[in-house]
Amino acid sequence: MDPVGILEEASHYLVGGVNSPVRAFYKPYPLIVRRGEGPYIYDINGNKLLDHVLGYGPLILGHRHPAVLERVRETLENGWLFGALTELEIKLARKILSHIYPGGLIRFVNSGTEATMLAIRLARGYTGRSKILKFDGCYHGAHDHVLVKAGRAASHLGVPTSKGVPIELTQLTIVGNYNDVAGLEDIFRKHGEEIAAVIVEPVVGNYGVIKPKQEFLTALRKLTSEYGSLLIFDEVITGFRLSLGGAQRYFGIEADLVTLGKIIGGGFPVGAVAGRREIMELLTPKGPVFNAGTFNGHPISMAAGLATIETLEKEGLDKATAASKAIMEIIDDTLRRKYEHYAIVRVESMLQFYIGVDSVESPDDVRRADKERFLKIHEELVKEDILVAPSQMEAFFTSIVHGEDEVRLFQQAFEKALGRVD
Ligand SMILES: Cc1ncc(COP(=O)(O)O)c(C=O)c1O
Repeated sequence: MDPVGILEEASHYLVGGVNSPVRAFYKPYPLIVRRGEGPYIYDINGNKLLDHVLGYGPLILGHRHPAVLERVRETLENGWLFGALTELEIKLARKILSHIYPGGLIRFVNSGTEATMLAIRLARGYTGRSKILKFDGCYHGAHDHVLVKAGRAASHLGVPTSKGVPIELTQLTIVGNYNDVAGLEDIFRKHGEEIAAVIVEPVVGNYGVIKPKQEFLTALRKLTSEYGSLLIFDEVITGFRLSLGGAQRYFGIEADLVTLGKIIGGGFPVGAVAGRREIMELLTPKGPVFNAGTFNGHPISMAAGLATIETLEKEGLDKATAASKAIMEIIDDTLRRKYEHYAIVRVESMLQFYIGVDSVESPDDVRRADKERFLKIHEELVKEDILVAPSQMEAFFTSIVHGEDEVRLFQQAFEKALGRVD
């Protein structure tokens, strides 16, 4: 089949030929997927690609994991939407809270975007304040209050990153520098009393991968407590990936609210806010902070999430982490022979590499890296049937079904691909 012809047809009906912008890469050819199995996806021409995108994070068990498939099939047999409470929601809530927020409460929504939107509303409702603080380089979904970049440094106030977002709204969002403790203290000195919440990716996964400095996370906890602001950990990527208890357990920092998505739906649409009981109880129907959703707690997403977390409880995350570590070593060996300046950042099963810089600790470092060369490597990797995200602003993921065979495949392909890049 001719993928270019299909793309033309897609573009006739879908804006830009896709439904989410990161999917719009067409080199070496437009990728049109037919199915997935384990760590592999198959395109419309039957090419088998080793998948390190994994749906941008949810598929920590790989594609079509039998435990998920079975639970979803079983659930479908009973019907799939009731507009009423089901036992599946209770089971998944109990399970997630036992790992992520023992003693807390959870509300399921339909995406990470909805989760962060709701967490921010809750924080504003709880504190009676309007401003939020986010960090340059952190992505929290596609809604107005977080589509903000840093304005003039002096003011710290945000300007929209998208047309259509009113500047009046983004001026309620202060933008800080990730990993900058002195900057954070300065923002709190100036605005601390007005800040309802700080929202942060505890490991940046949407500006490449950036590790947090422990002192940055500690300062976040300390300053928010001191000034009566809430700390929101956006764990849409890190939840059930860094550890079963997410980044909170991994770094030993407790947030007031945690936003979740991706893995907790096992590849089906989901989002959630979990957190302290007294804050969560402000939500409708108990309290005055509004949230509702036709698809909230959707049975199929709940079933897939349950099967995923139960499988992770049995099998652990070690295999995903081991594959990521092995891949990091391969990338390191290969890049060292070719480039004087490069950096690799890995946290458990999240990874990214950068050419042209010696280390990456901030979004500025990522911006300095050689984006063009990364794209060239991406193109050559796809020719070798390895799928990684088409931008150094994303992360490489591994799943618990990426084993030694896949690592070997990656090694051969990476060396060959790099051989064709300057
Ligand atoms: C940290 C983080 N927060 C929020 C979101 C938004 O989630 P969704 O795409 O499900 O709306 C994402 C998506 O990539 C994310 O990585």
